[in-house]
Amino acid sequence: MSEKIIAGNWKMNKNRNEALDLVSSVLQDLPDTSTKVVFAPPYLYLEEVARMCADFSNVKVAAQNCSHYDKGAYTGEISAQMIASVNADMVIIGHSERREYFGEEELILSEKVNKALKYNLQPIYCVGESLDQRKAEEHFDIIENQIAKALFHLDEESMKKVVIAYEPVWAIGTGETATPEQAQEIHAFIRKLLTDQYGEEIAKSISILYGGSCKPANAEGLFAQPDIDGGLIGGASLVAEDFVKLIEMRS
Ligand code: G3P
Repeated sequence: MSEKIIAGNWKMNKNRNEALDLVSSVLQDLPDTSTKVVFAPPYLYLEEVARMCADFSNVKVAAQNCSHYDKGAYTGEISAQMIASVNADMVIIGHSERREYFGEEELILSEKVNKALKYNLQPIYCVGESLDQRKAEEHFDIIENQIAKALFHLDEESMKKVVIAYEPVWAIGTGETATPEQAQEIHAFIRKLLTDQYGEEIAKSISILYGGSCKPANAEGLFAQPDIDGGLIGGASLVAEDFVKLIEMRS
């Protein structure tokens, strides 16, 4: 059975005091739930946020990226080993903004997945199509390529540790949420890809999250879908009340 997860990707937002206040507000109002709650703050706050969450067994901390290098002369890079050393648990890999603005493609992303797993960080691997690709009806091929090239080298034990996030690029930050039917169609497609490669039991154990303007006002229909196991939340994760509401809706 796949885990229910609500993960907040803060992107490049919040100064230190704002960050700690947000975490403190969410933890203060955290519902009693088995749903996994994830904070993905900027690197600078990982250690302090991890310390704040240490006593909450279902609350985890994720980096928003990691280097595909292990260590060495790579100025400005942050390694998976460093992220693990400050007690973070997970790492987002392949977000569309990394792909678009920093040119990250599947060969590099597969290396990032390998480094995350090497240092016991649970990858949240992001896939999704652009509006042009959807209009050209290329979205299934795009997503299959994104998954196969970055993940299908993994053995069964490693694959079971991966979380996948479907984030249609045209829905990120736009207010244009995918309909529950549109999202479920792709989630079911991803589940089928995983079943064909790893078998039904492993495919069913992998959490597939939806991301793209997911908010309390539209989450009910999305979370009711059989293959949507939770959300990777951007804007709504920056507001404690909204993030807590989404956790309640996924519980
Ligand atoms: O990683 C989640 C993010 O891309 C979704 O952003 O603001 O559309 O919820 P947003």
